[in-house]
Amino acid sequence: MLDTLEISQAATSLNLLHEKTQVLLKLEICGLEDNTVRFRITELETRRPRFEASDVLVGSPRTYSGKEETASEEKTQDESPEGEEKAHEEEPDLGTDEKENQEEMTEEEEEGTWEESFKSHHDSKPYGPMSVGLDFSLPGFEDVYGIPEHADSFRLRTTSSGDPYRLYNLDVFQYELENPMALYGSVPYLVAHSPERTLGLFWLNPTETWIDIASNTAGKTVFGKMLDFVRSANEGPQMDVRWMSESGIVDAFLLLGPLPTDVFRQYAALAGTQALPPLFALAYHQSRWNYNDEDDVLAVDAGFDKHNLPMDVIWLDIEHTDGKRYFTWDSNKFPNPADMQNHIAGKRRKMVTIVDPHLKVDSSYSVYNEAYSRGYLVKNKGGGDYEGWCWPGSAAYLDFLNPEVRDWYASKFAYDSYLGSTDILFTWNDMNEPSVFNGPEVTLHKDALHHGGWEHRDVHNLYGFYQQWGTVGGQLRRSGGNERPFVLARAFFAGSQRFGAVWTGDNLGEWSHLKASISMVLSLNLCGLSFSGADIGGFFKNPSTELLVRWYQAGAYQPLFRAHAHIDTARREPWIFGSDTTALVRTALRERYALLPYWYTVFYWAYRSGMPVMRALWIEFPKEEQTFMIEDEYMIGNALLVHPVTEAASRGVNVYLPGAHEVWYDVHTQKKYSGGQEIYYPVKLSTIPVFQRGGTIIPRKDRPRRSSACMSADPYTLYIALDDQKSAEGELYMDDEHSFNFEKQNEYQLRHFLFKGGTLKASVSSHIPPGKYSSTEWLERIVIVGIAQPMMSVLLKQPGSQDAPLAYEYTPELSSLIVRRPGVRLTAEWTIVIR
Ligand code: NOJ
Repeated sequence: MLDTLEISQAATSLNLLHEKTQVLLKLEICGLEDNTVRFRITELETRRPRFEASDVLVGSPRTYSGKEETASEEKTQDESPEGEEKAHEEEPDLGTDEKENQEEMTEEEEEGTWEESFKSHHDSKPYGPMSVGLDFSLPGFEDVYGIPEHADSFRLRTTSSGDPYRLYNLDVFQYELENPMALYGSVPYLVAHSPERTLGLFWLNPTETWIDIASNTAGKTVFGKMLDFVRSANEGPQMDVRWMSESGIVDAFLLLGPLPTDVFRQYAALAGTQALPPLFALAYHQSRWNYNDEDDVLAVDAGFDKHNLPMDVIWLDIEHTDGKRYFTWDSNKFPNPADMQNHIAGKRRKMVTIVDPHLKVDSSYSVYNEAYSRGYLVKNKGGGDYEGWCWPGSAAYLDFLNPEVRDWYASKFAYDSYLGSTDILFTWNDMNEPSVFNGPEVTLHKDALHHGGWEHRDVHNLYGFYQQWGTVGGQLRRSGGNERPFVLARAFFAGSQRFGAVWTGDNLGEWSHLKASISMVLSLNLCGLSFSGADIGGFFKNPSTELLVRWYQAGAYQPLFRAHAHIDTARREPWIFGSDTTALVRTALRERYALLPYWYTVFYWAYRSGMPVMRALWIEFPKEEQTFMIEDEYMIGNALLVHPVTEAASRGVNVYLPGAHEVWYDVHTQKKYSGGQEIYYPVKLSTIPVFQRGGTIIPRKDRPRRSSACMSADPYTLYIALDDQKSAEGELYMDDEHSFNFEKQNEYQLRHFLFKGGTLKASVSSHIPPGKYSSTEWLERIVIVGIAQPMMSVLLKQPGSQDAPLAYEYTPELSSLIVRRPGVRLTAEWTIVIR
C-alpha cells in the first residue's frame, strides 16, 4: 500500500495487505549500525499478539542514525496475549463453528490447519494457522552454511529433492547422519559466502522453522556454468533461501559483511558473544552415565593420577540423585557429597552434576512442591499443570519463560539450598528441548501454556535457552557475581553462547559420527556457539580402541573436550585398554593442556569480538574457493590447522594447506610446507595432523601437570613460525582464569609478540584498552621455526637492565632455533635480538 510509505533517515515502513485474508500488515525496514538491515512484518491490528523473541538480542539494536531502534522497543514481550484473550470474551470466540466456516471459505486449505493429530496426540490449535515465511534471493552466492543443529554436512545442501532443514528442538534417539531433521538445538542463522562477500541472514523466530535452499548452479559442472554464462550474460549464480515458521513474526536481519570478520562482529552485536569460560572448562572433562558412587568417583580421579593423565572435571549423571530429584543426592551412593568434592578440590579439579528441567511430581520433593504452589509449572491447554513422563516417572516442567521462575530457580543453586554442593560444583542442563517421553515427538504439546498465556508453540525453541539462563543466574548468585559460571546445555537457541557450552547430544560410537562431529561443531562455531563439542568415544555403543584413540585426538582439538558414554556401554576410562592406548590418550591430553594458553586467548577473542574459535578454512582464506567445500579440516584461531584422522586403519590423510603465499609447519616434526597445495600426509596411530601457520606465534605451557589449575604458575614457551618474510606475530591473553575481575576491575593483560628483522618484541597489545593484571609467570623457552643461519648471538634487552646473552641451539636441517631460559616475565616489556 504505497500511500502508507514513510521514509526516514534510518527506516522505511509501509503497510501491506494480505490479499487472501485481507489482513493488514506493517513492513519496517530499518538500517542498523554496522552494515546491518532489519526487516520486520507485524500485524497492524491483532486479535492475539504474536511472540517476539527480544530476549535473544543483547539489547535494542542501534539504528544507522545512532538511535535505539524503535521497532524493537515496541516489543510485545510484556504485552502478553492474555489481556487480548480477555477482550475476546466479549467477541465471539473463534470456536469450532467458526473454524468450520473458515475452513469452507478457503477450499485449498490443507488438513491440519485448524487442528491436527500426530499419532495419539492432538494439537487443538486454538488460534488457527499463524505461520509466517519469507524468501531471500542471494545473487552471486553458491555456498551457504549454518542453521545448526543438524547431523549433516557443514556446507548446506539444496533441499529441492528432499525435506527442508528443520529447526525444532527435539530429543532424537540415535540420530541419523546426513539428514536435515531437527535435533536438540536451533540457531536460525545462515551465512552465505563467496570470494567477494560474506553475508549473514538471521531469522529471529523461536517457533518450529523449516528452511528450503535452492541454487541455480547446484549439480552443474564448471562447463555447464560456463555455458550458462555464454548463453545469457546476465545470469550469475544465485541461492534462494525460504524460511517458514509456525507462528511469531517476520523479524529478519541481513548482515552485509563484507568480510567474514565483519559478519561475526555484526552477528555478535545482535545475539551476543561467547561467555568467557573459566580456564578449567577448556581442559579435559571425564563423564559417563554414571559414576556409581563416591568410591567410584575417587577411583576414577586416582586413575588419572596413577596413569599421569591430566583431567580437570568429573561429571555425575542422573543416577547420583535421590530418585531423579535434581538438587538432591542418593544418600546410599553419595552419603558425603561435600567431602567427595573437597577431595576432588584438593586435587585442583572440579565436578559437574546434572540438573534437568523436569521435576518429579512428588509432594515430598520440596523443589516440586514450591514450584507447584507458586504456579511456576507449564500448564496444559485446560489450565492445569502439565504432566509428562521423563526420568523420574511423572514429571512437571518448570516454566523458564517467566523471569520470576528463572530467578527462583537461580536461588536453588545457593549452597544452603542445594545441600552438598560446593564452589567446585558446576552444572549440566540436559533434556531441555524439553524432552517428554510420552509427548508428541518426545516433547511438550504445542498447545501447552506458558507465562503470559503464550502457547508452547510460540516459544518452543527457547525453552533450553531460558533454563541455561536461569542456571547461570544460580551460579552467579552463589558467588556474589564474582566467579564465571560453567553450564553445559543440550538444547539451545541463537544467543545461548552467552550462557556457556553446548554439545551434540547422543551420538554413536562409530567412525561416521566422529567425522560428523567436525561438521557439526564447525556449524555451531560459525553461528556463535564456539564452546561446543561432541561426546568423545560416542554416547551409544562401544567404540573400538582405535576409534577411541582417534576420537581423543580429534576432541583435543575441538572447543569442548568431554568424554561421555551411555549407562549400558562398557567402562572406557583411558587406562582400561592397556598401556599403549593409555600412552596415546596421554599424548592427546597433553597436547590439549600444553595449548591451553592459546585456547584461552582464542576464546578471549570469541568473547570479545564474536570470532569463532573453530573456523572453517574459508573464514581465514575467504578468497580461496578450494576451501569452500572443505569440512574434514579446520583452524583453531588463525594459527593452527587441524586435520583429524576419522577413518579406521588410516595410513595417511590428504591435507589441503591453504594460501598460495603461506607456509605451514608440521607442529610435531617442524617440517615446512608451502601453502596452496594438497599434500598426502602419512599417519600412524600416534599421529595427529596439526600445522602451524607461518607468520604466527603460539603461547604454550609445556610442563605436564595433573590439571589446568596446577599449571597456573607454570612458565610459558613461545612457538614462533616464520612466514616467507621471516616475520610472525601473536598474542597471549592472561587473567586470573576464573573470576570476573577481568571485566569488573580490568585485571587482564593482552600481550602482543612481534618477530621482525631478527627481533622479537613483547609489548602490551593495542587491540584492546590496556588492562592491569600482573603476574610472575615467566618465559622458559622460545622455539623459532623457519629461521636461517648464520647466527652469532641472542641478546635479551630490557629497559633499565644490561643486555644479556641467552643460550640457544640451532638445528640447520629444520631451520629451527631454541632459545633457552629467557627468564623474562610475560607481562613485562622486553626485546630479544637475534644476530
Ligand atoms: C541424555 C543425554 O544426552 C545424555 O548425555 C545423558 O547421559 C542421559 N540423558 C542421561 O542423563
